[in-house]
Amino acid sequence: MARILAIESSCDETAAAVVEDRCHVLSSIVASQDDVHAKYGGVVPELASRRHLECIGPVVSEALLRAGTALPELDAIAVTQGPGLVGSLLVGVCAAKAMAWHHGKPVIAVNHLEGHVRSPFLEHPGIELPAIALVVSGGHTALYLCPEEGLYRQLARTRDDAAGEAFDKVAKFLGLPYPGGPVIDRIASGADENAIDFPRAVMKNQSLDFSFSGLKTAVRIRATRDGLAHGVPDEAERSPAVRDLVASFQRTVVETLVATTLKACRREGVTTVLLAGGVACNRRLRRAFDDAAAAEGLCVFMPSPRYTTDNAAMIGAAAFLHYEREDFAPLDFNADANLKL
Ligand code: KG4
Ligand code: ZN
Repeated sequence: MARILAIESSCDETAAAVVEDRCHVLSSIVASQDDVHAKYGGVVPELASRRHLECIGPVVSEALLRAGTALPELDAIAVTQGPGLVGSLLVGVCAAKAMAWHHGKPVIAVNHLEGHVRSPFLEHPGIELPAIALVVSGGHTALYLCPEEGLYRQLARTRDDAAGEAFDKVAKFLGLPYPGGPVIDRIASGADENAIDFPRAVMKNQSLDFSFSGLKTAVRIRATRDGLAHGVPDEAERSPAVRDLVASFQRTVVETLVATTLKACRREGVTTVLLAGGVACNRRLRRAFDDAAAAEGLCVFMPSPRYTTDNAAMIGAAAFLHYEREDFAPLDFNADANLKL
């Protein structure tokens, strides 16, 4: 039986978890920084790294306490190496290295995106590969073919904005609170999602790539035309015109994500889909994938919301694949803001 402490600090959540035997989560603590960044309508990197510094110690202690364990009892310490904000990543990486050195434990450097791809396994350990993974978050929108454990082939990426980034920017423009994704999810519910037909990006040469900046601009033009830009938070949330607008935007994003994933499944002859990343919390997206699964005979696995947004349990789940291969990092490894999967 092996136990890994995992640390995640790539963006604006400080997180630590203790994971046992691949997918059994003994504890998972996430300290969100939404309160720090809300008034700026987006993550401020310098403020994020400072808050990580304050939180990392207490968050790790809490994760160990809740798991009923201590550092000497662990088999390895895993940490997100990248991609992400370098100042944020460094806090987790330095903390992990210091603990690993002090207690003589191996350290595992994990790619944040591998963490997201492995997140559905936390609650469904028996998922069989091959699978197509859709990672949709604030920083990434990509499709991967996962032929077997530990192998990932990128099939598509976004050419501009990530899906979550589009949610956040549209919300900010309308005067809705940060982060925009959960707010749009909430106020779109019950609104008329067919009110506006927004354009969608069409790629040439059979490309599966995504693009959301044209849609974002179309929403911006429409909002300006209809006098909905830069609203006051409470009023904007209640405005039927804003709710129809964001519901129509959300439908466009959801339909694009689902249609492209299905295309990838058909092309690769794969019937299992893994849905991951913060935007995978979106209820409209989850419903659309459930419907697609029923209609197309697919198995779609999505984590509960606590494991879709950034967390350390998913980093622990990914770390086990490296632990089993004794793929440990030297103590002089560094954070890598642009790490590729
Ligand atoms: O995975 P995550 O926590 O961080 C990154 O790795 O980027 O994803 C955060 C993103 C944000 O853009 C946020 O607005 C979006 O996920 N998000 C949502 C929902 N919950 C979070 N987007 C749409 N609907 C939601 N319910
Ligand atoms: Zn993430």
